[in-house]
Amino acid sequence: MTSRTSSQKRIGIVGVGMHVPSKVLTNFDLEKMVETSDEWIQSRTGIRERRIVEPGVVTSDLALAAAKHALKQAGVRANDLDLLVVATTSPDMLFPSTACLLQHRLGAQRAACFDLSAACSGSVFGMITAQQFLMTGRHKRALVVGAEVLSSFIDWTDRSTCVLFGDGAGACVMTPVSRGGILATDMGSDGSAAELLYMPGGGSKHPPSHDSVDRRLHFLRMNGTEIFKLAVRRMAESAQTVMKQAGLSVEDVECFIPHQANTRIIQAVAKWAGVPMEKVFVNVERYGNTSAASNLIALYEAVHTGVIKRGDHVVLVAFGAGLTWGSILLQW
Ligand code: ACO
Repeated sequence: MTSRTSSQKRIGIVGVGMHVPSKVLTNFDLEKMVETSDEWIQSRTGIRERRIVEPGVVTSDLALAAAKHALKQAGVRANDLDLLVVATTSPDMLFPSTACLLQHRLGAQRAACFDLSAACSGSVFGMITAQQFLMTGRHKRALVVGAEVLSSFIDWTDRSTCVLFGDGAGACVMTPVSRGGILATDMGSDGSAAELLYMPGGGSKHPPSHDSVDRRLHFLRMNGTEIFKLAVRRMAESAQTVMKQAGLSVEDVECFIPHQANTRIIQAVAKWAGVPMEKVFVNVERYGNTSAASNLIALYEAVHTGVIKRGDHVVLVAFGAGLTWGSILLQW
């Protein structure tokens, strides 16, 4: 009986927030650090600038500010949360989870807390995970945070990666809702392509050592061309899957929020999925790729600039290291 009742429960987002550091790193600043140009970066990625933390600022700092913002928007108190998921690739430390650190700072004593590792698909995976917990009825109010200080793991001498990423956090509060909410979801993974985007050092395979530091194993590594192709295919297919599941077409969806990796990927996904660019929300030019934070930051900006209105159908679609990909179709 319970599973039948709970499977009918609709889960929605009742508040969304974001936080980015105030320090702006422009393409012109990067020209002084590596052999690159504003023209190359803009034409290949669409990125003009990104936000970077000051030394000493960590992922849970950004997560805390975004979480408070989302709770305020939702009118929910931290103490009312019973689930707290932090999606991040750049946790404060390997353990305990950044979710537990955030719980303490936020005052969310009643929440069960864990981190989720799905790289740039983190916020979409986090929202789908929370949705599943809430649908069972065992949990009532969840906070999902996507937060990154990826600048800690970027090789600032590698021009092929350092121009792409930025720091930031997005957050949302999710509860059962009586109207709208999540209508369809899709998730997928392919571990055979793990080494297209990874950070080899710091775990049990290559624990920190003089050698691992000398070999620069504690920095992100990427095969950009292969990632590009797979990101386009997987995101386009995933967006189509959720529309099909919900019985909706591109015409029925008012706004698409793709992971903000770069404008060329976003344009190619839109073309492949048959979505006109006027329906696609893009803010990568101001933040770069904020990984697990990207979809939530974009959702916040789309809602609070009036691009997304009550009742609109929205598709969130993500792709990241793992490989991982996923989509959510919801009614706002
Ligand atoms: N400035 C100037 N030149 C550069 C830079 C730079 N910052 N970076 C690389 N180059 C050079 C390369 O060295 C190469 O030079 P060469 O021909 O002399 O060897 C040349 O530019 C072309 O390099 P390509 O890799 O072929 O450039 P491409 O047009 O493919 O663009 C890019 C590279 C932007 C990384 C592209 O492959 C891409 O967008 N990939 C997706 C990566 C991504 O978004 N990853 C994020 C994580 S995954 C995700 O979020 C989806």
